[in-house]
Amino acid sequence: MASTVPPLASASIAPLQNDGLKANFKTGTSLQCTFLGKEFYKAKQSFTRTSMTVAVKVSRFNDITMAPPDPILGVSEAFKADTHELKLNLGVGAYRTEDLQPLVLNVVKKAENLMLERGENKEYLPIEGLAAFNKVTAELLFGADSAVIQQQRVATVQGLSGTGSLRLAAALIERYFPGSKVLISAPTWGNHKNIFNDARVPWSEYRYYDPKTVGLDFEGMISDIKAAPEGSFVLLHGCAHNPTGIDPTPEQWEIIADVIQEKNHIPFFDVAYQGFASGSLDKDASSVRLFAARGMELLVAQSYSKNLGLYAERIGAMNVVCSSSDAAVRVKSQLKRIARPMYSNPPIHGARIVANIVGNTELFNEWKEDMELMAGRIKSVRQKLYDGLKAKDNSGKDWSFVLKQIGMFSFTGLNKAQSDNMTNKWHVYMTKDGRISLAGLPSAKCDYLADAIIDSYHNVN
Ligand SMILES: Cc1ncc(COP(=O)(O)O)c(C=O)c1O
Repeated sequence: MASTVPPLASASIAPLQNDGLKANFKTGTSLQCTFLGKEFYKAKQSFTRTSMTVAVKVSRFNDITMAPPDPILGVSEAFKADTHELKLNLGVGAYRTEDLQPLVLNVVKKAENLMLERGENKEYLPIEGLAAFNKVTAELLFGADSAVIQQQRVATVQGLSGTGSLRLAAALIERYFPGSKVLISAPTWGNHKNIFNDARVPWSEYRYYDPKTVGLDFEGMISDIKAAPEGSFVLLHGCAHNPTGIDPTPEQWEIIADVIQEKNHIPFFDVAYQGFASGSLDKDASSVRLFAARGMELLVAQSYSKNLGLYAERIGAMNVVCSSSDAAVRVKSQLKRIARPMYSNPPIHGARIVANIVGNTELFNEWKEDMELMAGRIKSVRQKLYDGLKAKDNSGKDWSFVLKQIGMFSFTGLNKAQSDNMTNKWHVYMTKDGRISLAGLPSAKCDYLADAIIDSYHNVN
């Protein structure tokens, strides 16, 4: 090999623009390089062709512009910088205790202790994830006795929480349904658009929120779903719609399913709050189960960030319900094919926590109590906020929409200028679309928040 290497004399050392230094070494042993009297580096050259560039000021990445801050995560940054004692962070969708502390559920700690006692290893998982997790997550979603589970018609792969699972499905759509459109609600969780954009899947919006009623624009929703090209994917929030907190009623879900069936669309559920919205795993899965029971093919992304508080473990799943077990096997093989070059295989820790909890009756029951507790705390501050708004605002405005909404968010109906007033004057941090996370609201601050909302609503245009 050494005989093919040119001698050291062929190494070129030439200044870059400005005061950079470029050195192309084609061979050599130990090398010290100086430019303008300064020592730049010592390089032990192996006998291979090596190209090195030492740029002092000019970056090869100069043309990369600054990315805008994430509209949701940026709220926390601004909150941290505020030193006011009454400041309140209602921007990020993460559960907080009454003392505004993040919560690690006891049941999670117990599951982790079990894992330690068993001395489980850290070997790679298969591409599709932990088998025990995939089994329980699909059963939790559809019901163990459901036809889709019994007939093995669900292709389930472990995903990197809700976001990663949605991204896998987006890649599947791009690959196997080229040109198909995804319909997303207006508004929706901010990351949906990013996910489909990055996967190069075209999307358009269907009407969802009616600012006049701060409720569901059901007629608009139905007519937009009807008007979409046949065979589109319709992204639906399984429960606790983010950001509005407004869900269709069971009767409305039936009509949505009718229209989707008529138009030969494919429903695509995002289930990020199962059990966390109402406190009941079954109730929060009822929309998905309604569609599955009709024999429809559908996609469902799941997340355990909120309901188990496993935000940073990145545990979730992508489920594709197919009309035959045969198709499910093939779809699963393709999901794995997409996952392999993206991240190879998913992390094990969160998958084991979920599998241990759901697979153990005692822990499973404890988790259900935890969810009731978390959902209960959110419902109680929702009620208290409404009581405050009603008692303090004598303008006659109807604030009852606050009570009709469900889950961790409330869409206040405040516009951008009013939301800015909430932050600038009242130190209440929230997204600019008027969304507040009630999970970050302690009982003691409900009245303060009511004052801030009333002031912003009435005194800012
Ligand atoms: C509607 C919706 N989908 C998906 C997610 C994804 O969350 P994660 O990736 O943490 O599971 C969220 C989180 O806020 C959400 O609100």
